[in-house]
Amino acid sequence: MKDKTVAKTKVFLKSFGCQMNVRDAEVIAGLMKKAGYSLTDDEAKADVVIFVTCSVRQHAEDKVWSEIGRIAKQNRAGTVPIIGLVGCMAQNYQQQVFERSPAVDFCVGPADIAQIPDIVTKIFAHRKSAGRGGLLDMKIWETDGSVRPEEIYHTGFYEEKDHAYVVISEGCSNFCTYCIVPFVRGPVRHRHAEDILLEVKEAVAGGITRFTLLGQNVSSYHSPEPMKGKPVDFVDLLMAVSNISGLKEVGFITSHPRDTTVRLFEAMASCDTVKKYLHLPVQSGSDRILAAMNRGYTRAGYVHLAKEYRRIVKGGLLSTDIIVGFPGEADDDFQATHDLVRDIGFDTGYIFKYSPRPNTKACMLADDVAQGEKVRRHKVILDLQKSISKSRKRSVA
Ligand code: 5AD
Ligand code: SF4
Repeated sequence: MKDKTVAKTKVFLKSFGCQMNVRDAEVIAGLMKKAGYSLTDDEAKADVVIFVTCSVRQHAEDKVWSEIGRIAKQNRAGTVPIIGLVGCMAQNYQQQVFERSPAVDFCVGPADIAQIPDIVTKIFAHRKSAGRGGLLDMKIWETDGSVRPEEIYHTGFYEEKDHAYVVISEGCSNFCTYCIVPFVRGPVRHRHAEDILLEVKEAVAGGITRFTLLGQNVSSYHSPEPMKGKPVDFVDLLMAVSNISGLKEVGFITSHPRDTTVRLFEAMASCDTVKKYLHLPVQSGSDRILAAMNRGYTRAGYVHLAKEYRRIVKGGLLSTDIIVGFPGEADDDFQATHDLVRDIGFDTGYIFKYSPRPNTKACMLADDVAQGEKVRRHKVILDLQKSISKSRKRSVA
């Protein structure tokens, strides 16, 4: 394909789920731009539609299937956009994606997003050589699950003008029993501290002053190589980033309670540029359920950590994730979660109904909390959290 044709080809990207996917969509946008393609915010005008997908809950996947179905049904005067399904769902379904939705042209797992510009170019070439209208029978599946090349983080493309997400680690090796992430995003790989610092410095030079460091569990970060002869853990990295000249603010998500330390809180308190916000998912207030989830901490351990955070990081905001209806969650387990939410008083809480995910350990257990009861428990915690969030906002204002 000639460069002119490439420049006229408009790419639309949409991400689902977490901030990691927001960043992955930006990375892909940066790579497509670098390859000469144009980006568009208007899906109806796009020649290529790429969905960066989430598999954490069934509901997230259902949304993507229905969006693909909607586009496939569109009548665009004979021009069908190329549809790419990228990220966690690609890894979860692999080639089955093409059986499930014949409208999908390519499917790329999270480790292989660097291949996307080449894949799109190949598909266009194939359509062209197949004559007017093109053939729709070229389906590309790409994943070798290898390490992402470092260059993909340095295209300089960020969606927002004054804020950037910066990936510090990919994947997760925690294997919480309900969670599909270790299966679709693979084992944890940490980026080199020097590469992360370089990315932030490049972005600051480009005018960005606020940053969020991203990882499934940032607290367990450690650089694969020492820096200036010294090992670098998460607190060291955070301090190094926060000292970059021209940077105004640095935050981070997500912190796993098992790996989060008072040393982090002291660093947060001591440094003006570190955002005073901690996302510390508790998941459940019941020790029995926490053990069944393989979370690696107890209710008392969590409560202690939350208290230490509030004591040390004065005025710091605290948010959490909670799952209701995990297999075997009895009334008293649920009550324990309820009481923990009431007693800690999170500033924000994200409440989810348990959704069995393939390959996970919990998926082998009977999903024995009835759907109606999950809905009820979800509403009880949501209502409680909403009123707490409201009154905490009032007390902060
Ligand atoms: N069912 C419901 N919620 C889940 N989460 C992860 N896996 C599941 C699941 N199978 C929630 C957890 C996690 C957040 C990102 O999504 O609360 O912290
Ligand atoms: Fe999933 Fe647990 Fe890893 Fe978070 S820490 S991504 S919940 S396995």
